Amino acid sequence: MLLEMAEMKSIGVVGSGQMGSGIAQLGAVHGLDVWLIDSDPLALSRAFKSISSSIQRLVSKAQLSQAAGTSALRRLQCTTNLEELCSADVIIEAIVESEDVKKKLFLELDKIAKSSAILASNTSSISITRLASVTSRPRQVIGMHFMNPPPIMKLVEIVRGADTSDETFNATKALAERFSKTVICSQDYSGFIVNRILMPMINEAFFTLYTGVATKEDIDTGMKLGTNHPMGPLQLADFIGLDVCLSIMKVLHAGLGDSKYAPCPLLVQYVDAGRLGRKCGIGVYDYRKPSPRL
Ligand code: NAI
Repeated sequence: MLLEMAEMKSIGVVGSGQMGSGIAQLGAVHGLDVWLIDSDPLALSRAFKSISSSIQRLVSKAQLSQAAGTSALRRLQCTTNLEELCSADVIIEAIVESEDVKKKLFLELDKIAKSSAILASNTSSISITRLASVTSRPRQVIGMHFMNPPPIMKLVEIVRGADTSDETFNATKALAERFSKTVICSQDYSGFIVNRILMPMINEAFFTLYTGVATKEDIDTGMKLGTNHPMGPLQLADFIGLDVCLSIMKVLHAGLGDSKYAPCPLLVQYVDAGRLGRKCGIGVYDYRKPSPRL
């Protein structure tokens, strides 16, 4: 029997990077005991620092009382020991986006977690059904796709695998709503809802640039001012990372089998050249400071 939401007391978050640390913060601020796990102790200490300063910012903006901030941090435990997750009601996986690595983790979590626990994945593109298939509890495996950064973005895309039960869906939805998120529900097909629509748009922006229809600035300005998007698709691609965009296009192409999802050759070439976006200083745009001599 799955737990009712009111009984939910503790969550585990595996992977303390950009996404996992934000999800752990949400759990602690909303009154849950949180185990934050990472195989890399340095990543854990970075995560603890970033969660503490983010909670401190909420306190200084009066969005959280000092007492609530202090008790949120007290509820957060960081460790490299996966076994600590034996009592967690829900475990949210946010490790590296690799199907093999995630499957290995789900196999381990299935052994460690109590029988009623839900195993959720924050994956952007990997099949929930395939992750569920390595466990003995496919009815209790679900996608819980937060947007970046999790404490700020309002949406959680919940992905139902082929065998996900209604009880698992309802408990996961209640958890996201406890975090004050709006929930949308997707069936488990490549790209789910958001990336299924967003990535082909970004890919088309690359084709528009590649075929010389317009400059990068005009493509972005067109979509910003013409369709009220907060940033243009090429600028957004630089934010997300061109390697991430390319790998999601490959997932759409392979999973949906339609040539309309084939990655644009220009996107492929930028990734081959190491132009991965803002994180490395150059993508579609150049973010490097001009050298002082120029
Ligand atoms: P990240 O690279 O910032 O963090 C991943 C963390 O997982 C690292 O600290 C790493 O040490 C740890 N890790 C790797 N393998 C592990 C293992 N076997 N056991 C324990 N810890 C392990 O990655 P990020 O960006 O936080 O992404 C995590 C997941 O969230 C991925 O599946 C990604 O597709 C998804 N996602 C990412 C978004 C983004 O904008 N960055 C948005 C939505 C989903």
